[in-house]
Amino acid sequence: MDFDINLMYIYKAIDLFAGIGGIRLGFEQAFRDQIKFVFSCEIDEFCCLTYKLNFGENPKADIKEVITKDIPDFDILLAGFPCQAFSIAGYREGFNDERGNLFFYIRDIIREKKPLCFLLENVKHLKNHDKSRTFNTIEDILRNELGYTIYYTILDASLFRLPQKRKRIYIVGFREDIKFKFPEGENRNVRIGNILEKDVNTKYFLSQQYLNTLKNHRTRHKAKGHGFGYQVIGRKEVANTIVCGGMGKERNLVKDTIKYDAWRPGDDPLKKKNNEGIRKMTEREWARLQGFPDSFIFPVSMTQAYKQLANSVPVPVIKAIAIEMKQSLERFYANNAHIAEFKKAMIQE
Ligand SMILES: C[S@@+](CC[C@H](N)C(=O)[O-])C[C@H]1O[C@@H](n2cnc3c(N)ncnc32)[C@H](O)[C@@H]1O
Repeated sequence: MDFDINLMYIYKAIDLFAGIGGIRLGFEQAFRDQIKFVFSCEIDEFCCLTYKLNFGENPKADIKEVITKDIPDFDILLAGFPCQAFSIAGYREGFNDERGNLFFYIRDIIREKKPLCFLLENVKHLKNHDKSRTFNTIEDILRNELGYTIYYTILDASLFRLPQKRKRIYIVGFREDIKFKFPEGENRNVRIGNILEKDVNTKYFLSQQYLNTLKNHRTRHKAKGHGFGYQVIGRKEVANTIVCGGMGKERNLVKDTIKYDAWRPGDDPLKKKNNEGIRKMTEREWARLQGFPDSFIFPVSMTQAYKQLANSVPVPVIKAIAIEMKQSLERFYANNAHIAEFKKAMIQE
């Protein structure tokens, strides 16, 4: 029977460790109206607020309490799972408590629900953690225990028209023996100057006192031969990876023109702004560094918004991967008449 896959099939997807839905957004952009999310799961209540406002559903759930058979059937599993710093390699020998690692909840859901494909995302360091034993264990489970065809690579967001260096590992799996190629990106970087806001509120500008502290730290650490901290990114440069905590914001300072400083002689000296126009990037600028559209809203405090964005994903990278995954699925199922199950589902949709 002839059929047009594009007309017939709506892929059902689930979004685990959903955060603010960066992975979902990339898939929605790639699949357009050919994807429907049937389940999402996120434990952090502030992430849930942002997710609800932007996607219309509250993903609040702890994956440890989710009962797999209660999840509606789906085709695509998405998960940017938290990187836990301990080894999982010994789990087969019973050395580690495997339930402690959230990856195993993903494994159990894949095992029971057997989706057509999945995308997992994590920090690039996952690849080398514990002399690569952690990653080898994950790969072995996905490939040999669950029987999926696995592809993985490290991609840098700055090759996907984002002015942010952000290398992450992406793992794609297909239930069938499907050929897949990761997108390569391109070498036409967008620069910081392209995404900065105009007329930024003075609250983002560093006080002179704080800037002096940063400078003193740098001098002291340099003398000891350590690299330290704050960095002002030029307009023609690309930002460092945005991270939450530590020196996250100070590693991505920018120079701007301060329009108005409310400070007057006699005011609290701590509140005097620096005279070089050095400021933190705004939450909206961080959202742009991750490729979120300006229509994406954050109904949370500044602190939470920065954290949510630092934990999220570069949306255009996800979109580019999703486009490749969709093409791989469609090529495969259009050419493999013997795998009837998917076609039947398409025709019934
Ligand atoms: C690396 S972030 C994923 C961010 C997401 N990809 C995004 O675009 O925003 C991992 C998320 O897993 C969530 N998480 C951690 N433990 C969880 C659990 N037991 N159940 C559900 N979500 C959990 C965290 O709150 C965090 O938002």
